[in-house]
Amino acid sequence: MSAAVFEQLRARSAPGTAFAAKLAGGGASEQWAEGARVLLSDGREAIDFGAYGVTLLGHRHPAVVEAVTAQLRLMPASTRLLANPTTAAFADELGERFGAVGERVWLGSDGADAVEAAIKLARRASGRMRVLAVEHGFHGKTLGALALTWNPAFREGLEPLLGQVTHVGREDPAAVAREVAVGDVAALIFEPRQGEAGARALDPELLRRWSADARAAGAFVICDEVQAGLRRCGPFSVARAEGVEVDAVLLGKALGGGVMPLSALLARAELYEPLRADPTFHTATFSGHPLACAAGRAALRVGDRLADEAAAAGARLGAGLELLAAAHRETVVGVHGAGLMWALELAAPALAGSVLIDLARAGLLVSPCLSAPASIRLLPPMVTTEEQLARALELLDAALAAAAASFAGTASLAGGRSR
Ligand SMILES: Cc1ncc(COP(=O)(O)O)c(C=O)c1O
Repeated sequence: MSAAVFEQLRARSAPGTAFAAKLAGGGASEQWAEGARVLLSDGREAIDFGAYGVTLLGHRHPAVVEAVTAQLRLMPASTRLLANPTTAAFADELGERFGAVGERVWLGSDGADAVEAAIKLARRASGRMRVLAVEHGFHGKTLGALALTWNPAFREGLEPLLGQVTHVGREDPAAVAREVAVGDVAALIFEPRQGEAGARALDPELLRRWSADARAAGAFVICDEVQAGLRRCGPFSVARAEGVEVDAVLLGKALGGGVMPLSALLARAELYEPLRADPTFHTATFSGHPLACAAGRAALRVGDRLADEAAAAGARLGAGLELLAAAHRETVVGVHGAGLMWALELAAPALAGSVLIDLARAGLLVSPCLSAPASIRLLPPMVTTEEQLARALELLDAALAAAAASFAGTASLAGGRSR
């Protein structure tokens, strides 16, 4: 059966995608999932610490599935002319958690939707055009969001993109002050934890300074927590927890409970003003989709209930990864992360690719890092059991040892530790 799946993928999409999926599954495809467990078509089981961060509550969390099923029976799509109570309640419940930053809420489906909405609002509300983003940052791949995403490889052959974007160095505290002095800055956008860059944290002190400098100059500050928020890295909102004053927080990925696509822009009233003045200024067919909002409402409550055990699991995972790094000093050159988002930085991209595929074949699914090819990323769900965590560390240990043996003596493995 899976042979047909790979052939369909190969024929209709990129052959490389089909090949990688075939290699990772050892010829099998995914069939069923629950929590951190995934069953493959050949009867094997894997632990899912990947899924690009979507399944923070695990696969098919029963409370989310139940809420979506109930909404499905009632009314999955909105008329868009009448008010939908599920959509209104979700926006209200989400906004309430963010104080003044959650005063207004716009809902989308993907993270990039929220990024696009934020940038449009910042330009129109400020009457300025420049946007400051951060080197190594990732904000999505639609043409607007892509202009803010740093990795030049994703932009090749597409420029000019959205103009007037300046990337500032992630260790340059004076960068924002310098840029706003040049003028015309509508917004500063950053990820407090750069997931695709290998789970790198930006210094909270630097973020507080950047934010103060931007806001003092009348620019809006947008915190992209599409990947890092909702307790993925510990706190519900990283910006809020670290005392960074922002005008907007962007959420996505896990917001739909791992069941529905859902994203959100939470914004202070001043930033949102263009949409109050003209609600047609930014629209999307599936904005506020009732099924997604039903999932989102349930997911907020489940996340609250799981917060303590997730914090404990994250601490255990971090400690386990540090031990592994110490035991594999030639292979692992850095451990980065917090909470339930970690990256192992390996000595070379080829090693990372080989470890990722070996792990998948042995039964642990992890994600690559789109802007850090030598890193592999672990994004376990909050419902990960102690046994699953222990097994994941065992599998990592074995995969790192195997990689070290097969790459032994390779010149490309030379490199410094970054911890
Ligand atoms: C921080 C951040 N922002 C935005 C995005 C884009 O989200 P999406 O792929 O859902 O459009 C991502 C995706 O990985 C992300 O990590």
